[in-house]
Amino acid sequence: MSETSSILVLHGPNLNTLGAREPGIYGSVTLDAINGELTALAAKRGVEVELFQSNHEGSLVDRIQDAAPRSAGILINPAGLTHTSVSLRDALAATELPVVEVHLSNVFARETFRQHSYVSGIARGVISGFGPTSYRLGLEALLEILSV
Ligand code: DQA
Repeated sequence: MSETSSILVLHGPNLNTLGAREPGIYGSVTLDAINGELTALAAKRGVEVELFQSNHEGSLVDRIQDAAPRSAGILINPAGLTHTSVSLRDALAATELPVVEVHLSNVFARETFRQHSYVSGIARGVISGFGPTSYRLGLEALLEILSV
């Protein structure tokens, strides 16, 4: 990974309300806390993260297109768009960057509609079910892919 590139961390719809949103499923940790932990972990390895959350599919696609040239890899929790968005998958695939998909909850133990992901087929791997630890493990995996 070059010295000028960073890791793009993307959060999909409704993840801005983490901490308050369905705490029985998603826990009490806020998105700011998760982002802080990811930033600190990356900094320890000398890597920068670019953080972005949106409730809008098109905004995520725009950010992927904009940030790809300065990114070495993408860590994404696509949230509800996981199960619906061909456009998000296409935008991620077009970057040709390594993508790691993460979920706080174990989507395979939930409703049937959550058990299909449009993103998984173009991701290097998926981590699901460990709460905020899913993000940490996902970042570790991405750093390993990037030999950092
Ligand atoms: C989620 C799981 C999705 O099914 C859901 O729509 C989310 C969050 C997770 O992190 O567990 O918004 O991606």
